[in-house]
Amino acid sequence: MAHCFVTRRLPGQALERLEAEHEVEVWSERRPPTHDDLIARTRDAEGILTLLTDRVDAELLEQAPNLRAISNYAVGVDNVDLEAATERGIPVGHTPDVLTDATADLTFALMLATARKLQEATGAAKRGDWITWEPAMFLGESVYGATLGIVGFGRIGQAVAKRAQGFDMTILHTDSTPLNELLQRSDLVTLHVPLTPDTHHLIDAEALSLMRPNAILVNTARGQIVDQDALLEALHNNAIAAAALDVTDPEPLPPDHPLLKTPNALITPHIGSATRAARERMADLAVANLEAALAGRPMPHQANPLP
Ligand code: DGY
Repeated sequence: MAHCFVTRRLPGQALERLEAEHEVEVWSERRPPTHDDLIARTRDAEGILTLLTDRVDAELLEQAPNLRAISNYAVGVDNVDLEAATERGIPVGHTPDVLTDATADLTFALMLATARKLQEATGAAKRGDWITWEPAMFLGESVYGATLGIVGFGRIGQAVAKRAQGFDMTILHTDSTPLNELLQRSDLVTLHVPLTPDTHHLIDAEALSLMRPNAILVNTARGQIVDQDALLEALHNNAIAAAALDVTDPEPLPPDHPLLKTPNALITPHIGSATRAARERMADLAVANLEAALAGRPMPHQANPLP
């Protein structure tokens, strides 16, 4: 029986399974654990199950001599210092596949909502701010038949492409089209790369300047992939038509952040994988990763190579 620290109660029954086998401590406060809380609770743990909001860095690992397994409840592992974990021989699990369709669905929802100005239109309808049907009211752009640029053609990028086929879209993706050309030719650009030092601010002022004035940028990956100051400027100058961001830098944005007041920005609170089914399957996989490593078996989905 190993001592495990879990940083949040998870949907579904997975934690009950873990609790049946191991001694499990679950963070129960409404506020998330601070980095100091995390260090303190991990000090005696053999396994931890973390969220994408928990920073698992070298400082934490140094103070956790018994730690044998890190299981991240996310496909992204940019919150974990993989190198430091690998150096200590600690496997890091993550949750790919099970959230692919949920995230691709949300990407499509954001593309449609932004292209067809749903935010502005529902706002006007709720305020009673329209007098009669008008020929030029809330005119948007067509998604059907448009050119879609997919930056990052892994699991989620490919799932977005599958949906785009049904919309008869011309699909460009960075496996076969250079990024600059993709940015120049696309009506909609959607980001599906992991956050790494190479992709940090991949979409900067220069990249945005290549996009068409009618183009829409969608980000369901990580906020830091986009240079937000440059994006704000592009939106304010109408250098691009709109942006839909499920992820921002930081999360959440402070209430007075200018992006929240920018009419052509649609912001959602990091809900890409937020379907009941996806979040339960993420919990199943995160627990399976942890249980496997604690039993000395390979994790079903491990993010760091270990000898
Ligand atoms: C992930 O898994 O990395 C998403 O951002 C949240 O599900």
